[in-house]
Amino acid sequence: MSTHVDVTRSAALYERALKVLPGGVSRNAAFRDPHPLYADHAEGCRITDIEGVTRLDFANNMASLIHGHADPDMVRAVTAQLRKGTAYNIGTEIEVRYAEYLNERIPGFDMMRFVNSGTEALMVGIKASRAFTGRPMIAKAEGAYHGAYDFVEVSQTPSPANWGDADEPRRVPLVKGTPESAVNEVVVIPYNNIDRSISLLERSKDKLACLVLDLMPHRVGLNPADPEYVAALRDWTKKNGVLLLLDEVITLRSHYTGLQEQYGLRPDLTAMGKMIGGGFPIGAIAGRRDVMDVLNPRSKSYVYPHSGTFSANPISLTAGLAAMEKFDRSEVARLNGMAERAIASIREMIRQTGARASVTGGGSMFRVHMKATAPTNYREAHTTAEENKRVKVMLDHMFDAGFILINSCSCALSTPMGDAEVDDLLDAMRSGFEKIAAMP
Ligand SMILES: Cc1ncc(COP(=O)(O)O)c(C=O)c1O
Repeated sequence: MSTHVDVTRSAALYERALKVLPGGVSRNAAFRDPHPLYADHAEGCRITDIEGVTRLDFANNMASLIHGHADPDMVRAVTAQLRKGTAYNIGTEIEVRYAEYLNERIPGFDMMRFVNSGTEALMVGIKASRAFTGRPMIAKAEGAYHGAYDFVEVSQTPSPANWGDADEPRRVPLVKGTPESAVNEVVVIPYNNIDRSISLLERSKDKLACLVLDLMPHRVGLNPADPEYVAALRDWTKKNGVLLLLDEVITLRSHYTGLQEQYGLRPDLTAMGKMIGGGFPIGAIAGRRDVMDVLNPRSKSYVYPHSGTFSANPISLTAGLAAMEKFDRSEVARLNGMAERAIASIREMIRQTGARASVTGGGSMFRVHMKATAPTNYREAHTTAEENKRVKVMLDHMFDAGFILINSCSCALSTPMGDAEVDDLLDAMRSGFEKIAAMP
């Protein structure tokens, strides 16, 4: 594949973008030095930019495109729906059908509400937990990303300069000016550390509405949680009447019924997003009937009036149902098998090249760290300036070789990929590790 890049058109577009978009981008995930890539079109697992360069896409819009780009089934379904309208003030059959489908597919889902993003799903889940328990606080793991909402943003990106004692991580707001009152409603626990986490939770147990948990949090290192840690937290929540709000916005792709099944876990609520929209914006919150009843205007427990202009719009739901039906058990297993092979191969090439690196992951995702030891919590996953330099060398190397990765050096597989695409990725990575091993 040719990767010769004439930057003129992209550079010129970026000049214009800088005048109208802060930093020239609408979201930081697209930010890139010296300028972002601009997509012209994409199909399957390949994106062609406006310079005419085609690359293999291992980012898949931050792990949301389980079937890659412009999947023919999705295009057909959405085109038919587009002709019938995109949003109505009344209900649709597709919202009932899709809710039935997901409730049947995932054990423990009694009821479902569709929203527009993962952030919104977490927000509704937190507010429903508060409404159900009558308590104000939430707990979350240090470094975990649960969307753009004041409470879950607490300690999303703390650094050694402000994260405080490991036994008692400081609550660090993401954005200057975040109300202290919001920050103080969050208990920040250290991932994978049972004793410390439980002792911090104990201190606020009467005020906690929910514990928000991701079983393989990307920013905490994309490492599956220790099963003992998850079991201990679940026991604790049950004992203390605190709801478990599981964030499966990413991890739902890891298993046919979500990563929760692999842990034998039955959360009270599950937040979803990304792949369940089949390439369109979506979020959903699902779980126990009695908890979800706080949203039910027909129920005696109704205490949470909830709306959203584009919630359950038939475009996202039509694409989403088509995507999930196609992501069947055999496709889940095929992608997971490819990722498992990639992880083993990357581990081996790190050993052979002597690069100071490691690899983590699970399901159909993996992440390369420029650290000799794979991280198990946020503080270990936090990158130094020197590690960031090596990440950039690898990302640039992969970019020049014709691959798009998530900028943390992570990959998310999609169903249009086969062994050939994974082999191409691994070949390019090998020379990347050789480059890194030769760095001073
Ligand atoms: C684990 C997790 N939770 C929540 C979100 C928020 O989803 P959205 O970007 O759709 O608001 C993300 C997004 O990256 C995520 O990775």
